[in-house]
Amino acid sequence: MAELKPNREREEACALVTGATRGIGRAAARALRASGMQVAVAARREDPLRELADELEGWAIPCDVSDPGSVERMFARFLELAGRAPDLVLSSAGVFSLSEASDVSTEALEASLAVNLKGGILVARSVLPHFLQRGSGLLIQVGSVAGRRPLPGNTAYGAAKYGLRGFHEILLEELRGTGVRATLLEPAATDTSLWDPIDPDSDPALPDRSAMLRPEDVAEAVVFVASRPARVQIPVLAIERV
Ligand SMILES: NC(=O)c1ccc[n+]([C@@H]2O[C@H](COP(=O)([O-])OP(=O)(O)OC[C@H]3O[C@@H](n4cnc5c(N)ncnc54)[C@H](OP(=O)(O)O)[C@@H]3O)[C@@H](O)[C@H]2O)c1
Repeated sequence: MAELKPNREREEACALVTGATRGIGRAAARALRASGMQVAVAARREDPLRELADELEGWAIPCDVSDPGSVERMFARFLELAGRAPDLVLSSAGVFSLSEASDVSTEALEASLAVNLKGGILVARSVLPHFLQRGSGLLIQVGSVAGRRPLPGNTAYGAAKYGLRGFHEILLEELRGTGVRATLLEPAATDTSLWDPIDPDSDPALPDRSAMLRPEDVAEAVVFVASRPARVQIPVLAIERV
């Protein structure tokens, strides 16, 4: 692995991406790097994280977003490596499961709430004091169409994503006039490893993978949001497949 170099003398804007080892987070980390940003990538599994950090000439910061201590350590490590708070935080870590309310398992419920809802709030909590002190910064959270539309079978996932949208709407009010911006992305089904355990192509109730968005489509939306002038906020951006 290439030696990690502090960013203190560098000019590039810095991004921190959670859920970066796969899917949307990984595609977005690559796209942000291609757009000229210095990127720190975070997720639980260290080997793919370090491979990606090497590829992006960035930093790998292992983190479990459902663990408050781990999130605080991630942010402290970012400050150490970058020498300052990030300009952009993309909160993409997520887990998915399908079950109706009548048979949702306690494990699936707890995992979804812990990662998709609590994890997003913990990441926001760690970065916002720095953004607010500086009077700038952009927090992009990856919500879902399942946080706006009541999709049957989405008890654990939809409840967390609806909650995340509620949190985001509160955040927009709290951030008004501060110079800090927040965006909620709401992608439709996207062909990532999130679907691997479910095999959507074998279930007629689910979209085929070939009919889903590509992770790169969502990554381009991230770069679009990130490249708006500092005076422009995009509160919510839905991304659909036609
Ligand atoms: N794919 C879709 O259809 C779709 C549609 C709308 C919204 N979304 C949302 O988009 C986001 C990314 O999903 P994806 O499709 O890219 O999923 P994915 O391919 O399964 O990737 C999930 C990522 O999250 C990380 N992660 C999971 N649990 C974590 C934890 N506790 N702490 C830190 N990192 C964790 C995983 O890495 P490790 O396992 O190494 O931790 C991985 O990098 C999620 O928020 C998801 O809900 C997805």
